[in-house]
Amino acid sequence: MKNQILTVKDNKQISDDVFVMKFEKEENEYKAGQFVELKVDGFTLRRPFGVYDFEKGELSLLYKVVGQGTAKMATMKRGEKIDALTELGNGFNVDKAKKPLLIGGGLGAAPLYYLAKTFKEKGIKAEMLLGARTQSDLVFLNDFKNVADVKVATDDGTSGFKGNVVEALKHYDFDCDFYYACGSLAMLKRVASYSTNGEISMEARMACGFGACMGCSIMTTDGAKRVCKDGPVFYAKEIIFE
Ligand SMILES: Cc1cc2nc3c(=O)[nH]c(=O)nc-3n(C[C@H](O)[C@H](O)[C@H](O)COP(=O)(O)OP(=O)(O)OC[C@H]3O[C@@H](n4cnc5c(N)ncnc54)[C@H](O)[C@@H]3O)c2cc1C
Ligand code: FES
Repeated sequence: MKNQILTVKDNKQISDDVFVMKFEKEENEYKAGQFVELKVDGFTLRRPFGVYDFEKGELSLLYKVVGQGTAKMATMKRGEKIDALTELGNGFNVDKAKKPLLIGGGLGAAPLYYLAKTFKEKGIKAEMLLGARTQSDLVFLNDFKNVADVKVATDDGTSGFKGNVVEALKHYDFDCDFYYACGSLAMLKRVASYSTNGEISMEARMACGFGACMGCSIMTTDGAKRVCKDGPVFYAKEIIFE
């Protein structure tokens, strides 16, 4: 973990309430699945965001405006500075899969972009299933298509298979040996009850963000674990969903 001041390079609106914030080059290294915590001006608690992309030392975050902190972020301009805890969490274990399947739900799929790029750099084109409520929620679909072989499922059938992610998993019958999943808790729970042969990135409300407060604990087969420090990526088989 590092505590750094990051400089905004770009803060681009890509849909009504979704933005991609890119920062000036830093001397960091990120694994796909790691995250940062931003100290947004005027707020005590830091806001966690998964790494969307990390290219030539430039970090990008894809975020949705859901409350006051992200609304403030949406107003930030090129050149503005922000206090950040960086290189947080464990990240995905890319050595587990020769034929990876990336499963994403809605905007929660954001960290899978950098994961797919990581596999591509290893010479592996990952298969990907992106689930969403409706077509307009698939704001990053074209980016994902550049780095993975993408199939889509929407609840209302406006794009791809009509149905939820597990129904789509059965429908598409992917040829994979290990999966990596990111999305809502409800989706992750469904995926884990369908198969435990994968890794899951969990979300939790966080206070410190680096393992000191236990505020982000989840229950696992090995007792309580902290999403920020022991995760956010866990084996599907070790998570006990409530
Ligand atoms: C490991 C991790 C990675 C994440 N990656 C992304 C990402 O890539 N893109 C993205 O859009 N969102 C991501 N989130 C969710 C993001 O942190 C929240 O949307 C954001 O903190 C909301 O802040 P707010 O002030 O706008 O909302 P408010 O509701 O006003 O926030 C109030 C408090 O609750 C916390 N909070 C609210 N929603 C969440 C949430 N879903 N998870 C954790 N804390 C929350 C806030 O951090 C803040 O402390 C991630 C969360 C975690 C834990
Ligand atoms: S947020 Fe403090 S231990 Fe995870």
